Amino acid sequence: MPQVIGVPKETAAGEKRVATVPEVVEKLVKLGFKVSVESGAGDAANCSDDSYRTTGAQIVDGAAKLWAESDIVFKVCVPTAEEVGLMHEGQTLITFIWPAQNPELMQQLAARKVTVLAIDALPRMLSRAQKMDALTSQAGVAGYRAVIEAANAFGRFFNGQITAAGKVQPAKVFIAGAGVAGLAAIGTAASLGAIVRANDTRAEVADQVVSLGGEFVKVDYEEEGSGGGGYAKVMSEGFLQAQREMYAKQAREVDIIITTALIPGKPAPRLITAEMVQSMKPGSVIVDMAAERGGNCELTEPGKSVVKHGVTIVGYTDLASRLAKQSSTLYATNLFRLSEELCKTKDGVINVNMDDDAIRGLTVIKEGAITWPPPALKLPAPPAAKPAAMPKAPKHGEASAPASATRTAVMFGIAALAFWFVGANAPAAFLGHFTVFVLAVFVGYMVVWNVTPALHTPLMSVTNAISSIIAIGALVQIAPPIMGGAVARPEAWIHWLAWVGIALTAVNMFGGFAVTQRMLEMFRK
Ligand code: NAI
Repeated sequence: MPQVIGVPKETAAGEKRVATVPEVVEKLVKLGFKVSVESGAGDAANCSDDSYRTTGAQIVDGAAKLWAESDIVFKVCVPTAEEVGLMHEGQTLITFIWPAQNPELMQQLAARKVTVLAIDALPRMLSRAQKMDALTSQAGVAGYRAVIEAANAFGRFFNGQITAAGKVQPAKVFIAGAGVAGLAAIGTAASLGAIVRANDTRAEVADQVVSLGGEFVKVDYEEEGSGGGGYAKVMSEGFLQAQREMYAKQAREVDIIITTALIPGKPAPRLITAEMVQSMKPGSVIVDMAAERGGNCELTEPGKSVVKHGVTIVGYTDLASRLAKQSSTLYATNLFRLSEELCKTKDGVINVNMDDDAIRGLTVIKEGAITWPPPALKLPAPPAAKPAAMPKAPKHGEASAPASATRTAVMFGIAALAFWFVGANAPAAFLGHFTVFVLAVFVGYMVVWNVTPALHTPLMSVTNAISSIIAIGALVQIAPPIMGGAVARPEAWIHWLAWVGIALTAVNMFGGFAVTQRMLEMFRK
């Protein structure tokens, strides 16, 4: 008998998300399940009862009936006491639970003799688990929304502009913590045209920050910040002091700060003090994503947007829910991927296989027995630590060591001598061509060097198109005799060969420009 997946309407105040969406219902039905959705459950996420019906779900009136008729319940928020009261023996609940923070709820659920899969307890370090990682999908949406909230509260453009009414400077955004939410915020703010800087205690995220268009700002203090598994560790007082100084400097310079710093199981680290807020320009904005855990900013009021010292401090704790359709769709996909793992037989019946590392990790209660915390995962040993103090290679354009300055001077000297030798000895006719050649090399070098490496491919195709200038040779051949027949008409076969040459060069020319255009379109935002 296929099992029934029930999706109730979320009861938490202001929650707009829903645990499944119509597009995913179709896929769950293909896995063999029956799907029941409480009437109105998707209204706030733009998923009407009708849209669920058309993709194969049954609409049920009232929570009590839905919970009673379901074998498996998909939810978003931690269940309330009333919802726990609606559960029956043998039922399976899949939702956010936060077992460490909710021991009482765990006892209540166990007493109902149910099975509970806490989506927040998924072992995220397993690469196989990524498709089910709802923490990541929701934090990504929240990071995006944090930037949109900041833009809403900020009185200026994000991007720099030159308009008839004057020049507009781009906004400067500083992101504290470059985890999932922080990286999403960096990408969003950079794509809106802001100058983005970011800091994290884990130095390994610096490359990711740069690849998303941000600049990684280092704390002037050597200390390894990684606590393993992609999470941070609590830093020493010396590091935190140096970090506070750097954050104070950033606060004076930037227009927007978005804080996302978090160490799992610890209160949010206090990074932005009241004095830092006071030092910000009037009209600046802080979005404190860690508001629920006490806040990264001293003046944050959880759940509210307040103005203090002329700075708007946004402490909303429902950022993902504010983009309900998007976050619900991603969450529903995470749960569908989990359903695939639970129902490999595709017969609409789940098997909570405790031998599977991913399933074991997120099963916090099995048939009434509390199975949380799970045994530690056996992960492959981390790579050996890098040898300390490797000399740093100088970046392109960066001033290098004195040794390399001497080498450049010697090279210039040799080149100057070589030019003098050629100029003094070469025949006059050669010198003209040689000068043009040297200038061409110089201009070409300057052009290529100043073009971003990502644009080298379109640059090559446009250069290719320009090289079709050789068509002029063929054009001269087919041109009528000029200056009273000074240029004689060529042989017929040369004439036709010139036409063929022009046709082929035209393909190169127009094709080259067309390809360049298409490539540049890909870079345009
Ligand atoms: P994450 O664990 O992926 O990222 C947190 C980052 O903070 C890590 O990269 C860590 O290295 C860094 N960090 C820790 N201590 C730091 C310090 N002292 N200085 C600088 N960086 C530090 O977490 P994720 O998923 O990105 O979530 C970020 C925050 O956003 C959390 O507090 C989470 O609860 C919150 N959140 C809030 C939502 C809302 O609606 N307000 C929605 C979703 C997430």
